[in-house]
Amino acid sequence: MPERLAETLMDLWTPLIILWITLPSCVYTAPMNQAHVLTTGSPLELSRQSEDMRILSRSKRGWVWNQMFVLEEFSGTEPILVGRLHTDLDPGSKKIKYILSGDGAGTIFQINDITGDIHAIKRLDREEKAEYTLTAQAVDFETNKPLEPPSEFIIKVQDINDNAPEFLNGPYHATVPEMSILGTSVTNVTATDADDPVYGNSAKLVYSILEGQPYFSIEPETAIIKTALPNMDREAKEEYLVVIQAKDMGGHSGGLSGTTTLTVTLTDVNDNPPKFAQSLYHFSVPEDVVLGTAIGRVKANDQDIGENAQSSYDIIDGDGTALFEITSDAQAQDGVIRLRKPLDFETKKSYTLKVEAANIHIDPRFSSRGPFKDTATVKIVVEDADEPPVFSSPTYLLEVHENAALNSVIGQVTARDPDITSSPIRFSIDRHTDLERQFNINADDGKITLATPLDRELSVWHNITIIATEIRNHSQISRVPVAIKVLDVNDNAPEFASEYEGFLCENGKPGQVIQTVSAMDKDDPKNGHFFLYSLLPEMVNNPNFTIKKNEDNSLSILAKHNGFNRQKQEVYLLPIVISDSGNPPLSSTSTLTIRVCGCSNDGVVQSCNVEAYVLPIGLSMGALIAILACIILLLVIVVLFVTLRRHKNEPLIIKDDEDLRENIIRYDDEGGGEEDTEAFDIATLQNPDGINGFLPRWGLPTQRWEERNAIQTGCV
Ligand SMILES: *[C@@H]1O[C@H](CO)[C@@H](O)[C@H](O)[C@H]1NC(C)=O
Ligand SMILES: *[C@@H]1O[C@H](CO)[C@@H](O)[C@H](O)[C@H]1NC(C)=O
Repeated sequence: MPERLAETLMDLWTPLIILWITLPSCVYTAPMNQAHVLTTGSPLELSRQSEDMRILSRSKRGWVWNQMFVLEEFSGTEPILVGRLHTDLDPGSKKIKYILSGDGAGTIFQINDITGDIHAIKRLDREEKAEYTLTAQAVDFETNKPLEPPSEFIIKVQDINDNAPEFLNGPYHATVPEMSILGTSVTNVTATDADDPVYGNSAKLVYSILEGQPYFSIEPETAIIKTALPNMDREAKEEYLVVIQAKDMGGHSGGLSGTTTLTVTLTDVNDNPPKFAQSLYHFSVPEDVVLGTAIGRVKANDQDIGENAQSSYDIIDGDGTALFEITSDAQAQDGVIRLRKPLDFETKKSYTLKVEAANIHIDPRFSSRGPFKDTATVKIVVEDADEPPVFSSPTYLLEVHENAALNSVIGQVTARDPDITSSPIRFSIDRHTDLERQFNINADDGKITLATPLDRELSVWHNITIIATEIRNHSQISRVPVAIKVLDVNDNAPEFASEYEGFLCENGKPGQVIQTVSAMDKDDPKNGHFFLYSLLPEMVNNPNFTIKKNEDNSLSILAKHNGFNRQKQEVYLLPIVISDSGNPPLSSTSTLTIRVCGCSNDGVVQSCNVEAYVLPIGLSMGALIAILACIILLLVIVVLFVTLRRHKNEPLIIKDDEDLRENIIRYDDEGGGEEDTEAFDIATLQNPDGINGFLPRWGLPTQRWEERNAIQTGCV
């Protein structure tokens, strides 16, 4: 330590001396008549100074220099002399006193007011405060009167190397890829030194590595850390601790130093191929395993990590390439072997596969090290399983004519037990699919027979399910769909497609088409329907009508002459025989009703069948009933009238042989008077029947009115 201090002091003296030497050449602009001389340094310096002061006073210059220096961290027992104030005023008889004010005056810096010596009475720290601004003045010792204006000067604190370098951001972490070439830059670090960077070497840093060699190196000036070994392998060692030192004083002995740590992690590169843990894998699988089931897993290990360890798995060879597949599980980084197609123990009992694992992310730098893949052999043994019966076909389609005899065989299903044990099979019908018990099956040979009659016109398809059960193991069951199609037999005769009624115009011409009819047949012959129409044999020479078949399988009925008259005959019935083209053909007779009608000149039917056919057009049933009611009422009245008249012929009617109607009108006109009452009484008395409620003289007009009214409401 003492050695270091000495060195520091040497450094400090150098600038002071220089300042002293350059003193004369400094030009100062202090007040012209009065001048101070600030002196500083050791007694030696002060004596030299006084020499120069003489020169200065000669040139009448005021301040010689306005700054002083004081060493920081000085730790002597006595206050340290910083400098001396001196004015070249002629003291004359008066005594001069110096006064100091400003930064630290009195507390840090003390002045001897007679001699002007300034002492630092406290230890100073440049890093805390680098300079102090003070003011000096010369006053009269007794009166304290200023003898000159105050003058400002600065005391600078001189740096010593009292601060060690520091790594403020440490400890550090950095990464570098494994297998990097020598000299690959890793990171750089920075230390700071609080000492004065512009003065001396107190802040001049040099970096070095204390720990971490021979793997890493550091550039002394820039602190850039680089790899110092080529091809460092992450798989061998992943993490390195580097201790870095920064030393000030340019690294010379006696400087201060600071250290930090840097943790360097090697990052992975793909420098290792995958490698199967085993060269041979054995798996076994029951033959009835569900497709897609995982049969086994193979794994190729890879010393790398992350995507550099990822491999894709493939089946590259073997006798089971069509039946098995392998998928890569990125999570587990293994390969999963699955079944792709059904196995059959009875056909083939074992398979061999060659599987390959290949790295997905290859680094071309290392491809010369060989292929980044590996292969292994997988042996798969198929195990026998008790399998359910197998039908000879996955579905069956049977056809049967609808007139098939009961118990006749419709078709047959067959099934076998694929196992070596080969159990016999029993067949049955799933009755849920044959609720009407239309069919039976022979349990032993699978022959399906008809149990109840079929009707294609009722149901074309009977889709049933047949069950096959192994006799030796009833849990081994298979089911097969059997679609039974009912084929058509000509068992329905054709008939009119609807109820037809033809209308014939009285004034129509011979050959007029009265009606076109078509036929329908419930059967469904393969080649479609073809109908034959004919008149009954005895009608073949019908003088009134003839028939003509149309291309579209329909029939037109034509009039043969124009002599139809509805007075003579209103309705004709024409039976028509329709037969189909079945084998044998079936036929039936349908009768067409033809009405004779009056028509307009352009052939529009206007009235048929005297009355009934005047009204019908556009009249509802209700209207017809109303009309009918009118007629009945009319008839009742007529009958009543006739009866009454017979009973009261003399007194009532014959008086003046007047028109009854006139009488009635008269009564009506004068109604309500005595005569009226009289007339009523007389009538009642004279006619015993009047007691029954019939009031002849009253009643008649009333009834007549009702009658008119009824006709009006009913018939209009
Ligand atoms: C029966 O099966 C046949 C053939 O598969 C099909 O065409 C038909 O629609 C099925 N009928 C019914 C009623 O399911
Ligand atoms: C033809 O019409 C006449 C009257 O117009 C009738 O007398 C005769 O019976 C009809 N013939 C047949 C076969 O309907």
